[in-house]
Amino acid sequence: MSSQIDHLLTESRKFAPSAEFAADAVADASLYERAAADREAFWADQARDLLHWHTPFTEVLDWSNPPFATWFADGELNVAYNCLDRHVEAGDGDRVALLWEGEPEGDERRVTYAELTDEVKRLANVLGDLGIGHGDRVAIYMPMIPEAIAAMLAVARVGAIHSVVFGGFSADSLRARIDDAGARLVITADGGWRKGKVSPLKPAVDMALADRNGSGVQETVEHVLVVRRGENAVEWTEGRDLWWHDVVPRAAADHVAQPFPAENPLFILYTSGTTGKPKGILHTSGGYLTQATFTNRVVHDIHPDTDVFWCTADIGWITGHSYVTYGPLANGATQVLYEGTPDTPHPGRWWEIVQKYGVTILYTAPTAIRSFMKIGRQVPAKFDLSSLRLLGSVGEPINPEAWMWYRKIIGDKKAPIVDTWWQTETGAMMVSALPGVTETKPGSAQVPLPGISIDVVDEDGAHVGTGNGGLLVITEPWPSMLRGIWGDPERFVETYWQKFQKQGYYFAGDGARLDDDGDVWFLGRVDDVMNVSGHRLSTTEIESALVGNEAVAEAAVVGASDETTGQAVVAFVIVKQSYLDAHSPAGLADALRTWVGEQIGPIARPRDVYIVGELPKTRSGKIMRRLLRDVAEGREVGDTTTLADTAVMSVISAQVK
Ligand code: WTA
Repeated sequence: MSSQIDHLLTESRKFAPSAEFAADAVADASLYERAAADREAFWADQARDLLHWHTPFTEVLDWSNPPFATWFADGELNVAYNCLDRHVEAGDGDRVALLWEGEPEGDERRVTYAELTDEVKRLANVLGDLGIGHGDRVAIYMPMIPEAIAAMLAVARVGAIHSVVFGGFSADSLRARIDDAGARLVITADGGWRKGKVSPLKPAVDMALADRNGSGVQETVEHVLVVRRGENAVEWTEGRDLWWHDVVPRAAADHVAQPFPAENPLFILYTSGTTGKPKGILHTSGGYLTQATFTNRVVHDIHPDTDVFWCTADIGWITGHSYVTYGPLANGATQVLYEGTPDTPHPGRWWEIVQKYGVTILYTAPTAIRSFMKIGRQVPAKFDLSSLRLLGSVGEPINPEAWMWYRKIIGDKKAPIVDTWWQTETGAMMVSALPGVTETKPGSAQVPLPGISIDVVDEDGAHVGTGNGGLLVITEPWPSMLRGIWGDPERFVETYWQKFQKQGYYFAGDGARLDDDGDVWFLGRVDDVMNVSGHRLSTTEIESALVGNEAVAEAAVVGASDETTGQAVVAFVIVKQSYLDAHSPAGLADALRTWVGEQIGPIARPRDVYIVGELPKTRSGKIMRRLLRDVAEGREVGDTTTLADTAVMSVISAQVK
């Protein structure tokens, strides 16, 4: 970490917004003043100005029972109405909502606000027929197709709660999430296109619902609604399974959106924590939609009449929730939705899409930028990227070098870059420059957004002061904050609020540093959570998967820095003797990499698996991952004095070499 800090200290480049950008920018500096003068009044203004309330609220924040907050609690709204109907009623029904591009070239659809509203109304009627209503949980396991967005909105429309599970997750991961939420319905597709072929989804749903490992048939799911997309062969369970194309077009076209209280749960989204079980992060309606809509508008500088917005995140992650589905649609924006991978069928696919649709705002992750850097500037140079006027980054710290490349090669040195820090738990952006207002600085996420209060503190909760590193905390409640962990209020308090209970701060789990200008530099996670390609993975979860393989006796997983993915999964595994005798270490390592990919999903597949004889442990039996990280990153191994057996590390280092 120290070398990183050294490097950051030397970063002194700054880029002022151009007069031209500033003249048309949605944001202006007065936002900071208004928010500072009265934070709650500021958020109340945003909620009133940006959203339609069936019943206006009179209360803003209730923080009388921390850490359980309510925002706008006596107001009522319908989230889907805000994203759809009101735009149609305002005469913008013909505006394109989704410029959908399938992975196979030539596969495209334009969906207007009127068309999307119609589809969502029909689907809401189907949900009603299936008995899905207020408070029911619906799992969504889909590729990036317009129906996925429609599914989220229809669930929201009827007051039910969605749990979107990333389509790259395995049947086991899906089942764990369905079980935890007690979902009654799964919405899926036969398959979707990824990397030039159809990746099946319905078969994974079938596996998730079947009797697996003798644990019994999944019991809460009554129906599975299936979109035909991949045209792959699927098995059918009569009475349980329904084709979308059979039921949705046939459903009644009228559906009146009912108002629900602002604190009505909107979705659960599972994210990795330090212990094995993923946490079901719970978000509610009014506050969430207010902050997602506001931040999308001012940070992405959305001009709905002229912009073509493209957030490249999958809807399986929070970025896809807030900046594909809810923020842009509430703002009435036109956006690109792309099904496939960036390099299929050729490495310039993204830039071809930017050119084809005239994308004006691009929001993506540092890992993607670094992989484009690796391929080289000659690829984007083949396309006309002159429509791009604003660039965004999210998911992990963006190193100054990647920031500069993004600015020069993609943004032609003109488009401002906003580096946005936030989390699944925060629901929406928290720290970011405002384009047209802030002088930007490569590598720093910079300042809290208007209405957000943060600090960098030491272990005791004291402000660290400029130039020093510490822990990032959020010092005041915010509208889109998580309202809890599904089914586990104690874990919610323990994970985020216990550490700085005295001060009442939210503990984000990120290290950060304040520079002399007061700008924030993020330094990565302070716990055992890895960040691979902008996605949080827990070491424990991958270790559990490894130990679940019959060849494995024990496993320790660490995140090692990786040029392309930020961090990469590296596993140290003790294999049972009988397997060691029968297989080569290389063969075992390969088999275990594949195994983890199958158990959790390809994203969790270790980059390296080292078969070792021992793991470094303290006297109390805790694995010292810090030392394994040293080995994985090719460093001199740090202090080993607290190890039960100090010789272990030299053996492991020798084995790895
Ligand atoms: C990291 C993604 C530095 C951070 C929206 C955080 C970042 C975790 C940034 C949340 C950024 C996200 N700069 N680090 N701009 N954005 N992170 O829940 O460690 O998938 O805690 O939400 O990603 O990841 P999550």
